[in-house]
Amino acid sequence: MTSTPSPQDFAHRLDRTAEAIETLLGTILSDTVLTNEIARPRRLLEAMRYGSLNGGKRLRPFLVVESAALFDVAPAGALLAGAALECIHCYSLIHDDLPAMDNSDLRRGRPTTHKAYDDATAILAGDALLTIAFDLTTRDEVHPDAGVRLALTQALARASGIGGMAGGQMLDLAGEGRFGDREPPDVARLQQMKTGALLRFGCQAGAILGRASTSDYQALDDYGRAFGEAFQIADDLLDVEGDAAALGKPAGQDAALGKATFVTLLGLDGAKQRLRDLLTAADQALAPFGARADVLRAAARFVAERKN
Ligand code: IPE
Ligand code: IPE
Ligand code: MG
Ligand code: MG
Ligand code: MG
Repeated sequence: MTSTPSPQDFAHRLDRTAEAIETLLGTILSDTVLTNEIARPRRLLEAMRYGSLNGGKRLRPFLVVESAALFDVAPAGALLAGAALECIHCYSLIHDDLPAMDNSDLRRGRPTTHKAYDDATAILAGDALLTIAFDLTTRDEVHPDAGVRLALTQALARASGIGGMAGGQMLDLAGEGRFGDREPPDVARLQQMKTGALLRFGCQAGAILGRASTSDYQALDDYGRAFGEAFQIADDLLDVEGDAAALGKPAGQDAALGKATFVTLLGLDGAKQRLRDLLTAADQALAPFGARADVLRAAARFVAERKN
């Protein structure tokens, strides 16, 4: 049963999901070799654990768990789907920080994976986290209906690949001008893809697991899109206005790398106004769920006001 959440529950519920995800990822990334695996090389496993355990807000699994809760989905399946999404997110961060991409030394308050290990190990840790995500979404524990698992797996693939996160990362790098592009980048599209797609999938996942009606699916999808864009604008603002100690990652990097962001496009005030408009849109999208979606409303506010 789903109880009606109050906004005050948000921090507690985020913590609860974060703890559950930490435990689950610890088990998934144990040294137990699974059927049809041959061996789990120790250095790679350690790097995967380094890049995914002990840190992160775990917002994406939270979106899966809380959107699924709207449809009274069993939490264990939603959590496993959330773990899959978090594996993809952690892989994206490991690769994002590589010297060939954003060249960052600090992530979640400690050295990035390629600094703690080496570039090649970090690349492989990312590859293996990406792959294991799809191992997870196809497991029986995610949902008893294989059709639901298939829909979930396809949606995750589309959010992660060329038409989603990876494609967005390409546009982000092109936006620096490093490939000689002359056209100014479409910042909204770039951000929808590189960051928005995985967050949006988090919301879609709840609807897929809950076999939501078309209109409920659409409502969560609209919320997810507004949430995703708001999230990246807040990230861009923090890069300008935040500091590395609070962020746990470098500040001022976007300007140093010549990234195209909403701050470069609209200025600080314009980006903040757009963030406020997106919060309103996120709130409105949740209207069909009434007070049951208050914790998701609180999540959108948190994302806009966060300091890390
Ligand atoms: C950071 O994401 C990367 C972006 C997509 C902007 P988060 O801010 O969710 O990072 P963690 O998982 O909490 O470290
Ligand atoms: C990262 O965007 C997006 C992905 C990892 C897909 P950023 O490059 O802005 O993220 P941070 O600021 O390094 O966390
Ligand atoms: Mg980047
Ligand atoms: Mg980066
Ligand atoms: Mg950033």
